[in-house]
Formats: sequence, structure tokens, C-alpha cells
Amino acid sequence: MLTTEKTIADQVRTDFPILNQKIHGKPLIYFDSAASSQKPTFVLDKLRHYYEHDHANVHRGIHTLSNRATEAYEGARDKVAEFINARFREEIVYTRNASEAINLVAYTWGLQNLKEGDEIILSMMEHHSNIVPWQMIAQKTGAILKYVGLTEEETFNFEEYKSLLSDQTKLVSIVHVSNMLGNINPVEDIIKLAHEKGAKVLIDACQSTPHLPINVQEMDCDWLVASGHKMCATTGIGFLYGKKEILEEMPPFLGGGEMIEEVFLDHSIYGELPHKFEAGTPAIGEAVALGAAVDYLTNIGMNKIHQYEEQLTAYLYEKLAKIENLKIYGIKPTKEGKGRSSLTSFNVKNIHGNDLATMLDQEGIAIRSGHHCTQPIHRYFNISGSARASLYFYNTFAEIDRFIEVLQETIDFFTTMIE
Ligand SMILES: Cc1ncc(COP(=O)(O)O)c(C=O)c1O
Repeated sequence: MLTTEKTIADQVRTDFPILNQKIHGKPLIYFDSAASSQKPTFVLDKLRHYYEHDHANVHRGIHTLSNRATEAYEGARDKVAEFINARFREEIVYTRNASEAINLVAYTWGLQNLKEGDEIILSMMEHHSNIVPWQMIAQKTGAILKYVGLTEEETFNFEEYKSLLSDQTKLVSIVHVSNMLGNINPVEDIIKLAHEKGAKVLIDACQSTPHLPINVQEMDCDWLVASGHKMCATTGIGFLYGKKEILEEMPPFLGGGEMIEEVFLDHSIYGELPHKFEAGTPAIGEAVALGAAVDYLTNIGMNKIHQYEEQLTAYLYEKLAKIENLKIYGIKPTKEGKGRSSLTSFNVKNIHGNDLATMLDQEGIAIRSGHHCTQPIHRYFNISGSARASLYFYNTFAEIDRFIEVLQETIDFFTTMIE
């Protein structure tokens, strides 16, 4: 794509030293950010600075380092709260990742509130992390799982959703951006209808928080979960957002230090929010990194990131759609790239996704193949896996061009072998 303007990628590329390397002698093209994003020097420097200057355990200490560590840890919570426009900082609970955040809600709110015959609505496109915990809770409580399927256009079937909602619905837990289809789901409408039935709603925002501006107050979700490692922070940190009044009613998840007010031999009085849910020494450095990642993303601007990624999405989709015998899954974006996020899963007739990924890796291009932890939606399409190219704001149009070129060569190579 010919453009004279400097794109976001042009501006930030050198912030990501990992991208400046060769793999098998070829410049790395990293198209696997949906699995985990790369980290800018800004975040790595903050992490290093924290460990070189400020580290001690949080909350318990009187000494200066402990105070500094506490400030850094709690300061990051403020940043996350602001990033998603939470009303109160206590509404942000640190977890190891999004999976842990969903399990937290399932094992606390779920066990406390669900009973036999209650219904939980999920969708076919959920990540395993938003299916398995609910299966476990359904087995324990007798609650029933119902799944929303896809329309012919491979979008969230809203009509089916409406027909599944009933007075028995107690919970709706839905992905904001599918990590297989790339679709951006109409979460505001989904939430509104669920609330009309008195049901609570959890939004899996793992693939949206890194890419779109998130406003939990406007969205009106009851909980929202995300993973730091997909949004420029390190692994080992994620968060649960929950409306304060709901979190207050929920029992603790894990017991231990940090989450108590007082401990007696026969009982304990639990701490206030959000500490009630953060037992033991937390991932302090990782929280600091998450705060730094939020600063970094905010500094670029989430609207700008989203708009640039829409351009990448439209460009990638258009190029992929021209390849013969290649099926792209999920909603067709508008010409401007609206409707889906910057990840695209596809299959090429008679060629296994693993073979494509292996051949592309030889050319320095990192894509993912397999079921992407979304086996039900793959089964729905009657496929065992797919190839997935997932982009972030540090990717360029030139990388897409190179990817398409190598993909086409690979397809041609396999096609001649088959013939
Ligand atoms: C949509 C979605 N939900 C949940 C998860 C789980 O995230 P984590 O493994 O960081 O807990 C992922 C990770 O790929 C995801 O894409």
C-alpha cells in the first residue's frame, strides 16, 4: 500500500526491539499478537526500574521501599481503572490472566448464586477459558449451559440469543472480540437484553482491550476480564473488572495473607475490595508492567490504534479474499475495516494449517495454526483447526504484502505437490 503519511507502526516500530531480528535469515514478521503481544522498551524499562530501585513486598511494610512498591502496584490499578473507565479503583482486581479472572467469578458468584435449572448463556465462539469454568460450575450446581450459534454471515446470532433468553437466564458470558472469527460482537445490545431479564453479564475482553477503547460504564457489563500479556504487558498479570456492589457481595476466591482484615483460630474477617480477592504476595512487578503498558497505549491513543488497525484489517482481508481456495472465517469487514478486529483465521483447501505455518516460519513469518482454544467453533465449521494471522499496531502494510506473497508461494508449492 502506497502512503506518504507516517503510520503508527512507522512511529512505534523501534519501541519493540524483538521485532528487529531475523528468523531463519529473514526479517521477522510477527503475526501472532492475538496469542501474545510483544513488549515495548518503555514497559521493559519500567519493570527493570521497579526491580532495580523500588522492589519490596507491598502493603505490609513501614519502610520506604515497601511504600514505593505499594504505590507502584496500587498506582497501576488506578491506571487500569481509568483505561477502561471504571467508576472506582476497587473495581479492578488483579489476576494472573483472563482465565483466572473468569474462574474467580465462576467459583465465587457462580457457586453462590446458581442453582439447578438456572441457565447460563455462552456462545459457540467462546474461548475454552469462557466455557470450561462454566461447565465445572454447571456440574456442581445443576445449572444448564446454552449456546448462541452463528448466522449465515458467521456473526453472533442475535435472534437466537433473544430466543434463548428467559426468566431462567442468570448469567450471560460472551466474548467481545472472537479470537477465532475476529468478529466484534454487539456487546452493548447483548448486555441490555440480558439485564432486562435480570441476568448478569461477563464480557471476555481479552481480544478487545488491547485494540479498542473500552468503556465499562457505557457498556454496562457486570464483569469484564482481560490479560496483560496481550496488551503490551508481561505474562502473569490480568484483571477482573466488576461492578463494586457485585464484587462486594461475592465471597473471596482464595484464602491467605493480604485478603484478610483479622484472623482468629476459628474464623477470619475478610479484607475490603479489591484485596479480598488478592490472596498472597501478588505479581507486583507484573502489575507495574501492566500500568506501564496502559500508559504506553494511552499515549498512542486507543482510538488511533483502533483506526490504524481497521486499515490493516481491511487491507489484509481484501488480499486474503483474492486467494483461490482460501476460506476466511467470520464477518466480512466493511471497506473501512469495520466489524472485525485485526485477526483473521483461514483455511486453504487441501493444505493443513500447520503446514502453512511451518513453511511461513521458514520465511520469518510467525502465524498460528490449530484450534486457538476454540474447539467448539472449529467443530461447528467441521474443521479441526485453522491458520490465524493476528496483527497489532506495530505491524505494517508492507508486512501484509510480504505475508501474502509467501502464503501464495506456499500454496502454489503444495498445490503442485498434490497434482
Ligand atoms: C478471547 C480470549 N479469551 C480468553 C483467553 C485466555 O487468555 P489467557 O490465556 O491469557 O488467560 C484468550 C487467549 O487467547 C482469548 O483470546
